[in-house]
Amino acid sequence: MTRTLIRGRLLSFLRRPETIDDAASYRYEEDGGLLVEDGRIAAVGAYATVRAEAPEDVEEIDHRPHLILPGLIDTHLHFPQMQVIGSYAANLLEWLNTYTFPEECRFVESEHAARIARHFYDEMIRQGTTTAVAYCSVHKTSADAYFAEALKRGMRMIGGKVMMDRNAPQGLLDTPDMGYDETRAVIAQWHGKGRNHVAITPRFAITSTPAQMEMAAALAREFPDLLIQTHLSENHDEIRFTSELYPDAIDYTDVYAKYGLLGRKSLFGHCIHLSEREADAMSEAGAVAVHCPTSNLFLGSGLFPLKALSRREKPVRIGVATDIGGGTSYSMLKTMDEAYKIQQLLGERLNPFESFYHMTLGNAEALSLADHIGTLEAGTDADFVVLDAAATPAMALKMEVVRSLTEELFLLQTLGDDRAVRETYVAGKPMKATL
Ligand code: GUN
Ligand code: ZN
Repeated sequence: MTRTLIRGRLLSFLRRPETIDDAASYRYEEDGGLLVEDGRIAAVGAYATVRAEAPEDVEEIDHRPHLILPGLIDTHLHFPQMQVIGSYAANLLEWLNTYTFPEECRFVESEHAARIARHFYDEMIRQGTTTAVAYCSVHKTSADAYFAEALKRGMRMIGGKVMMDRNAPQGLLDTPDMGYDETRAVIAQWHGKGRNHVAITPRFAITSTPAQMEMAAALAREFPDLLIQTHLSENHDEIRFTSELYPDAIDYTDVYAKYGLLGRKSLFGHCIHLSEREADAMSEAGAVAVHCPTSNLFLGSGLFPLKALSRREKPVRIGVATDIGGGTSYSMLKTMDEAYKIQQLLGERLNPFESFYHMTLGNAEALSLADHIGTLEAGTDADFVVLDAAATPAMALKMEVVRSLTEELFLLQTLGDDRAVRETYVAGKPMKATL
């Protein structure tokens, strides 16, 4: 049995913070201890208490004065788009057709897919992201590369072979049968292997025919425990085109509802322009709207009403994500910095505790994985990050006047990025030091 005692300032959430003063929503230990045993957290609490109960000869790592939080979680990004970031386009559909679809065609090559997968996981670890939910490309080779690398690194990762059978270049199309068969093959080969989870992944209504949506529905019925991911209501032209393609649906959300794809396991990227009816339908189904702030700003897609959706009489569940490569940063800290600014533009406040809740427990809840990740509770996976709010000269200068945990978190979110991530532990192992 391998055991390590980690010492530092521990912060983890118990539920969503209601206000900036909601101290009961989180647990903070100024001098905390985490006992890690075989990849899990065996004990957590005040350092003195955990130390007293730990074996005499346990290895000890002292991360004081830094903060230790659960590993950050990214609930929507595209693994084959690492070389798409920063592509100059006027809007979503132009960006997809001009840069993104041609780039994804390259993932038919398994060597290319394997090389990008290595870079992808290096980047996740550099940024403190220990779990991510990715779209692979339409090619099974891309899903194989994605999951093989996750297995090597022992990470809890979620991903799916994209299903798309129209409105894209030939090299990026499957068929309803191929999409179904290859998704089943990916599930058989990878789901539950190591810490891998497969998600059913019809790209979006524009690139799937009704016949393919039927196949996605069949997969969702056969594998009810799997997450489903797709895109919804990101851009006005996309919404218009979708209603032309699915004239019988009441609205965009109803397209997915008609095919049985609107439920508690469904993750919908963007959801910027939902009507009240659509928000009600999302809420009633328990579906998750995944906010991708840097992408929404970069592509000029719109301002996601995060606060308004979460305080409705029928609240909508929320996830937060980078959406690489529409997104412009791999950092969940930068992501929440931009989320904060979007709420400012909408006349709303997003407090630092809410932001850090969303990056950790909030996203774990969105994935129905809070029993495993997103907290520092005993019995959960030992995935955590060590954050340094004085990581750069500018941050260190500001830290001289920081007087509270609230201010420290806000500084981390406002000026922080991968440089603020001192270490990333995956199943109890420090991974960043060895990159
Ligand atoms: N909608 C369909 N595919 C994509 C994608 O790759 N990125 C974004 N931002 N939106 C999409
Ligand atoms: Zn996306």
